[in-house]
Order: sequence, then C-alpha cells, then structure tokens
Amino acid sequence: MSPLGRLVCSAPIPAPLRDRAHATFDCIEPGKPLRTDEVIEIATAQRADAILVSLGMLLRADHIARLPETIRVVATTSVGFDHIDVPAAHARGIVICNTPDVLTDATADTHMLLLLGAARRAKEHVRNMDGGWKIRNGFFEGLGVEVTGKTMGIVGMGRIGRAVADRARGFRMPILYHNRTRLSPDLEGDARYFPTLESMLPYCQVLSLNAPGGQGVLMTRNRFAMLPHGAIFVNSARGSLVDEDALIDALKSGQVASAGLDVFEKEPNFDARLNELANTFLLPHIGSATVETRTAMFGLAIDGIEAVLGGGYPSNAIRP
Ligand code: GLV
Repeated sequence: MSPLGRLVCSAPIPAPLRDRAHATFDCIEPGKPLRTDEVIEIATAQRADAILVSLGMLLRADHIARLPETIRVVATTSVGFDHIDVPAAHARGIVICNTPDVLTDATADTHMLLLLGAARRAKEHVRNMDGGWKIRNGFFEGLGVEVTGKTMGIVGMGRIGRAVADRARGFRMPILYHNRTRLSPDLEGDARYFPTLESMLPYCQVLSLNAPGGQGVLMTRNRFAMLPHGAIFVNSARGSLVDEDALIDALKSGQVASAGLDVFEKEPNFDARLNELANTFLLPHIGSATVETRTAMFGLAIDGIEAVLGGGYPSNAIRP
C-alpha cells in the first residue's frame, strides 16, 4: 500500500503515466471509463483519498455530497472545470486541481486550424478529395476568404486567448478583446480592450471564443446580429457559451459566413444540423489532443494529487 494514499481513476491510465501512477499511489484503475456513480461507489468502498476524472465526468453538488469523507482531492485532466461544482467541493474541504498552462499552445494551434478550416472551406475540399477529386473547381469556384489582415475579436483574454492573439498577429490580424478585467500593458500589447462585448462585436471580422464555460450563453441571437455581416466565428472554448440555434440561423443567412467549432452544447451528441451546413468546419473537441500536451496534462493532474496527499497545496489547485 502506498504511503501517500489510495487513488481511484475514472478511466484507464494512459500508458506513459501508468507506471508512475501505480508507483506513487495505491491506484485503482478500471478497464474502461466509468460513470460518476460507479466512481463514487468504488471510492466509498475503497475509502479512497483521491479521485482522478476527465472532462466527461460530471461532479455536481449532489455527487460531491456523496463522496466519502476520506476524499481530500479531485483532479481533472482538463483546464476547464465547469463539469465540477467547485464551491461544493471546497465547502467539504476537498481540493480541486486542473491542468492550466500545459495545454495553452496545443489549444491555440487547434483554434487557428478551426479558423483556417472555416475561412478556406476545408470541409468541402476534404470531402472532394475523400470522394476521389470528382469535383473540378473552376478558377472562381470553391473560394474561401482571406484570413490575413482580418480583424479578430477575442472573448476571454486568458492564457489561451493570448496565445491565439500571438498566432493571429503572425497573420497580421489587428486584435480586439473583451475580458472581465483589462490586462496589464505588458500582457495587452497592441490589443485593443473593449469593456463590453456588445461594443466590440461590430468590429469583429473574426470572432474568437476563448472564455471559460460555466458563465451561461455569451453568444445569443442578438449578439450574432451585432457582428459585421459575413463574420467568421471560431469556438474552441465551450459549446455552452453559444446559442446553437441562433448560430445555425446566422450561418444559413450568411450573417456568419462560416464557423470553426471544436466544442458543442452537447458532446458527443452534437446538433447534426451544424454538420449539414456547408459553411462549418467541425472537430470533435480535440483542442489539447497532442501526445506532448495530453502527457503533460495527465502528469500535472497526478502532480496535484501527489502534492495534496503529501500535505502540500499544489499550484494547479483552484483557489476558493
Ligand atoms: C478542454 O476542453 C479542457 O478544458 O481541458
């Protein structure tokens, strides 16, 4: 038995981290991903000290209330923690850890892939190639719009938003942003701050969502209407930030020319109408999905659990 304590994992541990996890903890690893109730049941029966979960596992207040008293830390292998009722966990003295920083670059790279895929009609062209290049586009057919030089408005100028801005500057895109608080001059750089989302929207030829979930719908029907006609919409943050019916209508009318989406209101059972539209470029929530990043995320989640069970307070703990 590990001196640090007993860890229940909600899914099989990725091969590169398995030895470390089993060497560090008395580790209970399932053969397949578990549901929340199953994790709670095992954690209770085993008097676990810690739980390792992923984005897909909902931990609402009623789940937290049913965790055994032995649990001291829950780590999620995601930067977002809108699937966990953090205040309910804190009220029980349970530390919640996430995986900030290590996924910033991979997610910002995916964001640019979405932008380019949407602007350059990648879905249509990939489908054409999949079908054996049967459609021969004329000189003025299959054209996208230029990304270079377009004005990008970023909603949520945290780590990932700033990394997207850095990449967009490489495309000579002027950067606007809306954030709860204005950034310090060194972080803001040449980006222009808008204290309200409404005041920024009319200037966004590209609108980039990089805000955390759990704050309700930001992109409502009214707000889509405030964009310049033909704007490009990119979301690698959370589907819950968007009224998808309103987005679909905006894509049909041309108010939004195209959308690049990695996240959806319902995952994986996303609204199929989004895929039926020619002017979308969709990915299955792969923002952080590189070997390097996923390995680092899992490692950071384990670091957090190790620190808490060792009597410390990790830097990736979410502060009350
Ligand atoms: C991905 O969406 C994450 O929150 O890590």
